[in-house]
Formats: sequence, C-alpha cells, structure tokens
Amino acid sequence: MTELHQAREGENPLDVLIIGAGISGINAAYHLQTEIPHYRFAILEARDNIGGTWDLFRYPGIRSDSDLYTFGFSWHRWNRSNPIAEGPDILEYLDDAATTYRLKDYILFNHRVSSLEWADNQWKAQVQHGSADKNFRTRFIIFATGYYDYHQPLATVIPGLDQFKGQVVHPQFWPESLDYTDKRIVVIGSGATAVTLVPTLAERAKLVTMLQRSPTYIAAVSNPAQNTWWARLFPKSCVYYIRRVFQLIFGWLFFNYCRAFPGSARALLERRARSQLPADIPLDPHFKPRYNPWEQRLCASPDGDFFKTLASRKATIQTDTISTVDAHGIHLSSGTYIPADIIVTATGLKLQICGGIPLTVNGKPLDIPQKFMWNGLMLQDLPNAVLSLGYVNASWTLGADACMQLTCRMLKLLEKSGRTAVVPVCDGAQKTDGEPMLNLSSTYLVRAQKDMPKSAAARPWVARTDYISDMLFGRFGDVTAGLKFL
Ligand SMILES: Cc1cc2nc3c(=O)[nH]c(=O)nc-3n(C[C@H](O)[C@H](O)[C@H](O)COP(=O)(O)OP(=O)(O)OC[C@H]3O[C@@H](n4cnc5c(N)ncnc54)[C@H](O)[C@@H]3O)c2cc1C
Ligand SMILES: *[C@@H]1O[C@H](CO)[C@@H](O)[C@H](O)[C@H]1NC(C)=O
Ligand SMILES: *[C@@H]1O[C@H](CO)[C@@H](O)[C@H](O)[C@H]1NC(C)=O
Ligand SMILES: *[C@@H]1O[C@H](CO)[C@@H](O)[C@H](O)[C@H]1NC(C)=O
Repeated sequence: MTELHQAREGENPLDVLIIGAGISGINAAYHLQTEIPHYRFAILEARDNIGGTWDLFRYPGIRSDSDLYTFGFSWHRWNRSNPIAEGPDILEYLDDAATTYRLKDYILFNHRVSSLEWADNQWKAQVQHGSADKNFRTRFIIFATGYYDYHQPLATVIPGLDQFKGQVVHPQFWPESLDYTDKRIVVIGSGATAVTLVPTLAERAKLVTMLQRSPTYIAAVSNPAQNTWWARLFPKSCVYYIRRVFQLIFGWLFFNYCRAFPGSARALLERRARSQLPADIPLDPHFKPRYNPWEQRLCASPDGDFFKTLASRKATIQTDTISTVDAHGIHLSSGTYIPADIIVTATGLKLQICGGIPLTVNGKPLDIPQKFMWNGLMLQDLPNAVLSLGYVNASWTLGADACMQLTCRMLKLLEKSGRTAVVPVCDGAQKTDGEPMLNLSSTYLVRAQKDMPKSAAARPWVARTDYISDMLFGRFGDVTAGLKFL
C-alpha cells in the first residue's frame, strides 16, 4: 500500500495503472505481477468490492452463460463439476483467486477515474475518492472497465409504463428487499437475463410471464452437481484440462457449424427445444427466432430449467408487442391482457468502452468512434493504453488473457527499446471492411455500433475474433506494424 500512496501527484509515476477490478482487472494484475514483477502498478476501482459485473448484478438466479473452465482464469482452476455457476459462487471464486495471489494489495477501492489526460509522455488521471479529488500519474494504462454503463441501462420506450401502479424493476438495479412471493410478474425481454430470471422467480411467484417481442435460441446444457463417471476415471488435475480443452474445441466447432450450416443448426436447436416443451406451448412463434443460430448469443438453460418451469405451469410465454401498459397490467397488440403486480424490464445493457472516461491526448479530446482498433487491443492515436476486451462468441476471460499476453510482450519490448511511449498510427484511409467489433445482431449491440471503434479486414486493424489465433499472434506475430515508438 505504501507504494500506491507514493503514486500521487508530485511523486514518481506508476509503471501501469489498471482501471477496474472485475475479471479483466484481476487478470491483468496477475499477469503483470507474474511476468513483469519489477513494475509498480495499482488498480483503481470505483466500487467497494472486486468482481465488477458479478458484484453489480444481484437479481435472483444470476449466473454465467459460459462454462467456468474457460470463463475462469487459466491460472486458477475452477475445480467444481458444474460448468455453469451462480453469481455468488463466481464472486467467491474471484475473491479466492485474488486472495491466493495477493492481488488485493494493489487495489484502491472507491476510486473512480473521472478523466485522463496524456501530456509530456505520461498519463494524468483525475480520480474521485469520496468527496476528495486525487491525481495519479502513470506511464501506461490498462482499461479493465468492461463494456457497458454501470449507471444507465439501455433506454427503451414502453408505452404507458409510467401509468403502472405496481413495481417496475430493472435487473441491473434489483432491489434487495423486493418480495415477489405470490406476485404476478411479467418479465419483458428474451435474452440471457430473462431466461435466467424466469425459472428462479417462478419458484415463489404466483405466475411469471415472459413477454418477448421476438424469440431467442435457448439450449439446455447439462450442469451436473457431481462429477460424472468419466471424471472419476482421471486424476483430478487432468480433469480440469480435459474440460477446458473440450469447452474450447466444442465452442469453436459449434459456432462455426452454425455459421457454415445455418439451416442444419436451426433444425437441430428447434428439435431439441420441441422435445422439452409441454404440448400446449408451440415452437412457433415462441421458439422460432427470425435470425440464424449464433447471429445473436445463444442462451444456455442449465439442465433445461427454463423448459421445466414452463412445463410446471408456474411460468408462461407470450410472443407479442406491447400496445400499452395501464395501472394493473399490460395490453398486447393481439388484444390479450396480462395482469401484473411487478414488471421486470430485462431489456439490455447500454454499451460503453473505456468506462466512458473522457480522454485527452496532448490537449485534444479523443473521439473513439473515429478511430481504428489496433489488433483488438489499442486505439489509434491513444498512446500507452490498452483495452481488455473479451469475445462475443466465447468466454470473456479468454479475450482478457489474449489481451494480457500481447500487452506484456509489448511492455517488455518498450522497455528494451529504451523508448517511453507506443502509439498506433494510421492515415485513417483504411477501408472499414472488417468484422464490426461485436458482430452479432442483438439489439443492444446493433444500437451501440455507432459508438464503437472501427476495424479493417487485415492486421493490424482487425477486430479480435478467436482465442487460438489471438494467442498465436500475441506470441509470434509482428507487434510493431502500425505502431510508432516515441
Ligand atoms: C448478467 C451478466 C452475465 C454475464 N455472463 C457472462 C458469461 O456467462 N460469459 C461471458 O463470457 N460473459 C458474460 N458476461 C459479460 C461479463 O460482463 C464479462 O464476462 C466480465 O464479467 C467482464 O469483466 P470485466 O472485468 O472486463 O468488466 P466488468 O465486470 O464490467 O468490471 C469493470 C470494473 O471496472 C470498474 N470501473 C468502470 N469504470 C471505472 C472508472 N471510471 N474508475 C474506476 N473503476 C471503474 C467497474 O466498477 C467494474 O468493477 C455477463 C454480463 C452480465 C451483465
Ligand atoms: C477448489 O477451489 C476452492 C476455491 O476456489 C478451494 O477452496 C478448494 O480447496 C478447492 N478444492 C479442491 C478439491 O481442490
Ligand atoms: C468467433 O467468431 C469468429 C468470426 O466472427 C470466428 O472466426 C471464430 O472462430 C469464433 N470463435 C469461436 C470460439 O467460435
Ligand atoms: C457478421 O456476421 C454475419 C452473420 O451474422 C456474417 O454473415 C457476416 O459475414 C459477418 N460480417 C463480417 C463483416 O464478417
């Protein structure tokens, strides 16, 4: 801690400042500590706890969609038999990882970075700590700020919602004290959050209705609480690696199968859904999405909990649009009326990169959507700063790992070269013909596209797409192309 406090204005700048203590920030700290142990670095976290997403979201049943063998850290094994884990268990795991490797020593909690200014070859960070303003100086920045706005969810207009006399709840701000026992609940939305909420709420509610404008693919996945037979045949240490490699390969195969044979993938997913649905809930329209599999994120349902809840009659599903909300319920365009005591608006996240922090480079504000992204890691014209971002079609943590592999290599290179700064430069004449940073057709991603940096079809301006090729690039690729050393 004493080292951290020296980092204030007037003292020597830090080597690296990590912003955010979620999965990405903890992962970044581990890699710096292990690979460049002589560096002085700190993590500034706006909240009073680690975990980011897993500390913020508190709705009933919150869990991962990804398997923890790849969503967990490569350097701290997830040793349980269930690939999909509940929020509190993930938070406990993150805490255990951070404690085991003494990473919490680097964190300053309740420190919100409010602006960043690059001048004289270093960064000056303005930081709010309670009512006090502090300044930190650092040579290099790692943005581990996640990808969405913590304070504002995606704005959606639901006509008449202000007339509603019951309670309106957004999953991002779930009230701890909300008692929904024997209540009639309508969950608006069809994404992972809605699919998670419905089975959990239905355990105590009177009736839960999932109201979706258009359906999503939902796939039941097995989530055993105990080791299955094969896992008992292998030594414990092997089992983790087998599971991790299996998830990596299976995930890759399934995604690419969906993209290559959309018709076949659609038929497969629909057949599986139909076999689990009760007879009176038809596949069409409720489980027949307008898009092909993996054009949006696939929702996982551990052990088919979602389908079982529908079969139990404690929950039901409506595919329709809202005509208007009145004091006691929702009128649908088809004429149906759903009475409700609670409305849950599971309508999505508002995307944001670099934590929404205003960035100034040599006196000029940086306009992110105008910039290309260098190998999915740095922003054009933004010196000495990397963004730890994940994948949309694989576990986030894999992307964070690929980011740190490339970052550590670059930091070592910078040190060896005797230069002080590195910045991606291009003339801006590149064609924007690459995959968009987040190439899925989900509403919240499409709406955010205009705020995202640009990408081209060839390195070094490609978006990050694949763990294996990113790791290979991070190790052997040309990390000088497109960069200027100052
Ligand atoms: C409900 C939900 C379920 C998800 N499930 C999965 C899943 O199963 N698989 C998957 O791959 N992904 C999933 N995701 C995506 C998930 O957010 C990421 O996987 C991962 O948790 C992101 O980690 P992160 O550390 O990059 O960002 P975050 O978890 O968002 O953490 C960012 C941290 O930065 C801090 N911060 C931000 N701005 C500032 C600032 N200006 N100053 C100081 N601190 C700041 C925040 O307080 C926060 O602690 C899910 C997301 C949600 C919302
Ligand atoms: C599994 O991991 C947890 C923490 O993540 C640890 O406390 C526990 O001892 C581990 N169990 C085994 C059997 O390794
Ligand atoms: C993710 O998508 C990209 C294309 O957008 C693809 O090349 C890659 O193989 C996918 N990764 C996985 C794990 O499916
Ligand atoms: C984005 O994904 C779609 C499938 O949803 C695919 O057809 C398209 O080729 C991808 N875009 C680019 C630019 O690769």
